[in-house]
Amino acid sequence: MNPDLKKLQPYPFEKLKTLKEDCQPAVEGHIALSIGEPKHDAPDFVLAAITENLNAINRYPLTKGDLALRNSITAWLTRRFKLSKITLDAEQHVLPVNGTREALFSFAQCVVDKNKDALILMPNPFYQIYEGAALLSGATPYFYNTVQENNYLPDFDVIDESIWQRCQIIYICTPGNPTGSVISKQQLIKLIKLSLHYDFIIASDECYSEIYFDENNPPAGLLEAAEESGNTNLSNCIVFHSLSKRSNLPGMRSGFVAGDAQLIKSYLLYRTYHGSAMPPVHQIASIKAWDDERHVQQNRKLYVKKFDAVINILKPVINVNLPGAGFYLWLNTPVDDEIFARDLFDQQNVTVLPGSYLSRDNDGINPGKNHVRLALVAPLDECLLAAERIKQYINTLN
Ligand SMILES: Cc1ncc(COP(=O)(O)O)c(C=O)c1O
Repeated sequence: MNPDLKKLQPYPFEKLKTLKEDCQPAVEGHIALSIGEPKHDAPDFVLAAITENLNAINRYPLTKGDLALRNSITAWLTRRFKLSKITLDAEQHVLPVNGTREALFSFAQCVVDKNKDALILMPNPFYQIYEGAALLSGATPYFYNTVQENNYLPDFDVIDESIWQRCQIIYICTPGNPTGSVISKQQLIKLIKLSLHYDFIIASDECYSEIYFDENNPPAGLLEAAEESGNTNLSNCIVFHSLSKRSNLPGMRSGFVAGDAQLIKSYLLYRTYHGSAMPPVHQIASIKAWDDERHVQQNRKLYVKKFDAVINILKPVINVNLPGAGFYLWLNTPVDDEIFARDLFDQQNVTVLPGSYLSRDNDGINPGKNHVRLALVAPLDECLLAAERIKQYINTLN
């Protein structure tokens, strides 16, 4: 057996299950704010495309995906990130993947040179797949803390030169899960300069980029930062996008990677062996989703309403603000996060995720400690009821 498997940590939801084991909720009607699974309706026209194209199942898909899908993706990226100097080529710059999770994981297997004492940098708190990707690729995870004092953003200036020298990949997550913070274009440009200087890859997980609250201010992406920095051939830059959150299609397992043509070429070779082509039906349905922006705007409206209403309820009892983007609230708790999550469940039958399940001890602190993550994915009424119950619970602490 691969000994590195032993290094993998239990997934946060396993820890949560153990935490809740002995609880007997005092209130009827469980509300889960713990899982980041979109709950709004999937677009009708995407579902129709699936049922109308079921016969496409009788052919093997290409690992690189149909050209029509890759064209739809390059057109979407160009529109969304207002690319004007970079002409994305559907043959060179993009590759469909079966959701970003498998891609974030397998990408590291493809690119890490384990003969070189490799480090993979990742945020702390984080999406745990980055850590597993590092451990199973033979690299060592290196965490950079994202703390409240820095608006939950990374501070690349504090990372030592010796770390950059060993860095082969840095994962960034913008908008961030769990923090909701958005890395600015200026900061992305700074990171691109570091990546060209020290020659490491930036793997930018942007799967929450389409859930934001101000229609005039969408989160920046790595590709537009590359364009603005003059890195027009996208050297060392790879982005990960998904239909799961944007279009409420988590079960379709549809996303893509895009960026540096050399990296895409190697990753395509890797994926050919990995055997992870997207089913033809999902490719056809994905085109419909990437080509339409109306359903995405409507989806955002639902989140705006929910966040406003929930924040209004919670504001009197806890410090809570609208995040930069995404569908999480990252609350700083007045008591230990595990106690908060356990007692909230016990007393109010609401499940939230303790922040320390999403983070590691690092640099003398655990940045997830005393935080909980609330995923506002349930329908409005349910989120409002959950907020009222959380408020009641917090009132018992004062
Ligand atoms: C930060 C982050 N990245 C990636 C993913 C994976 O999303 P998917 O595989 O559905 O594209 C998730 C899912 O929750 C996530 O939170």
